[in-house]
Amino acid sequence: MSEQILIVDFGSQYTQLIARRVRELNVYCEIHPFNQLPELSNNIKGVILSGSPCSVNDHDAPRINLDFVIGNLPILGICYGAQLIAQQFEGNILPSQIREYGRARLERIDQHFDLLKEIQLNTQVWMSHGDTIDDLPDSFDVIASTPSVNVAAYKMKDQKVYGIQFHPEVTHTIEGKTILRNFVVHICGCTQDWTPDIFIEATVKELRQKLIRGNVVLGLSGGVDSTVAAVLINEAVGNRLHCIFVDNGLLRKNEFELVLDSYNHMGLNVKGIDAKVKFYKALKGIKDPEKKRKAIGKVFIDVFDEEAHKISEVEWLAQGTIYPDVIESVSVKGPSATIKSHHNVGGLPAKMKLKVVEPLNTLFKDEVRKVGKTLNIDPNIVNRHPFPGPGLGIRILGEITPEKVRIIQDVDDIFISALKKNGLYDEVWQAGAILLPIHSVGVMGDERTYENVVALRAVSSVDGMTADWSQLPFDFLAHVSNDIINKVKEVNRVVFDISSKPPATIEWE
Ligand code: XMP
Repeated sequence: MSEQILIVDFGSQYTQLIARRVRELNVYCEIHPFNQLPELSNNIKGVILSGSPCSVNDHDAPRINLDFVIGNLPILGICYGAQLIAQQFEGNILPSQIREYGRARLERIDQHFDLLKEIQLNTQVWMSHGDTIDDLPDSFDVIASTPSVNVAAYKMKDQKVYGIQFHPEVTHTIEGKTILRNFVVHICGCTQDWTPDIFIEATVKELRQKLIRGNVVLGLSGGVDSTVAAVLINEAVGNRLHCIFVDNGLLRKNEFELVLDSYNHMGLNVKGIDAKVKFYKALKGIKDPEKKRKAIGKVFIDVFDEEAHKISEVEWLAQGTIYPDVIESVSVKGPSATIKSHHNVGGLPAKMKLKVVEPLNTLFKDEVRKVGKTLNIDPNIVNRHPFPGPGLGIRILGEITPEKVRIIQDVDDIFISALKKNGLYDEVWQAGAILLPIHSVGVMGDERTYENVVALRAVSSVDGMTADWSQLPFDFLAHVSNDIINKVKEVNRVVFDISSKPPATIEWE
């Protein structure tokens, strides 16, 4: 088992970022809610306490007893985490006189301490806190200050216990990564050997041990997660893996044929099922987005189950679930039961009564991409934008018909091909076209037209939780708009969505 850092989550919006930064150092880490901590095993080399929206002075603030770590392992408290440690040792935490939010400079740094080695004086850090550490007991040294925060960083004398008031995980803290490296590598002694190659080797070995007998079924979607999961399992069990790729009639233009072809080239044992008619039938007359999602999810489960039953001795259901789907976001009152409403086929394991295997459930999306690249998977699949399970079904607002699917496929194809041709595809996190349920007046030649309106959406994002609309060049948009109106005769107006998330969402439904 790889050495790892344990990140204790107190509900900060930045907790996942801490994990990403640690993993960028090739050190494995896991996030656990403060009230569901694992036993400390030998492979845990250090502990990071996250921030929190709470105040340590709230009577119901999330707390842990630090006795299990202090003296055993190095510990780094960030923001709330730093205040929590200080408070447990009788430090004084007070509400800040002014709310400390935004950029600040470390005007005093004590570089004798490993945590701040090589950090430049006056380096910019990012503050976001309502409380401040007003006083520390004698058993602590203040090791950095800003003009307005005396205790910007501290160390406990004689112990590898550190606290920092600012956030090293956000990019606005210019040398945040060095601080985290100092902690993880120099203080905790991690060897930075968690690489895609090591992950692949260990995972394939684990899969071989786990999937000793019986067949494995896996639903491929054409996306990076299910494909990487399939390739790893294929390495482990070969043709005991049976992949099923369902055409729900809501995929991108020619996607089914192209992706099926790539899968065959990759040597995967895959069966393509054309179930378009079943999906269209189930969707007839449905306008409500949630009802559409449910209908699509249900038909998918039925089709998949029927196909899986044609395979003998199936014992395992494999899924491409990734880490953000499994980390429970901590509500400050305790772990929340937040289940992503997007988990459309969440009902599959229950219905099929199979054991579930999820080889990617410790990875973030960019890590899955790195593993995919290391496995030499077609870059067209590895770098593909995320695409929702219900596909174009939630990009055709209102009722879905095969004709509307054809229109939006054509529009989407023009847009996505142009992004690729102009080198913009990889700069955008996700893009697509939406068919609006309205008609607008236009003129073509001497004719008055009354045709469909489509919206183009392109966003930049890290994980889809927040997103900014992509500022695509105007001449590019002008060209795409012209092309769409000239080539797709049912469309006479193209608009570009300039809303960010929040408050908008990425999809329109
Ligand atoms: P929203 O629209 O919530 O989308 O901002 C965030 C990300 O989730 C995808 N998405 C879905 N994925 N089933 C999925 O598998 C769904 O029902 C679904 N709805 C949205 C969306 O494409 C974006 O990547």
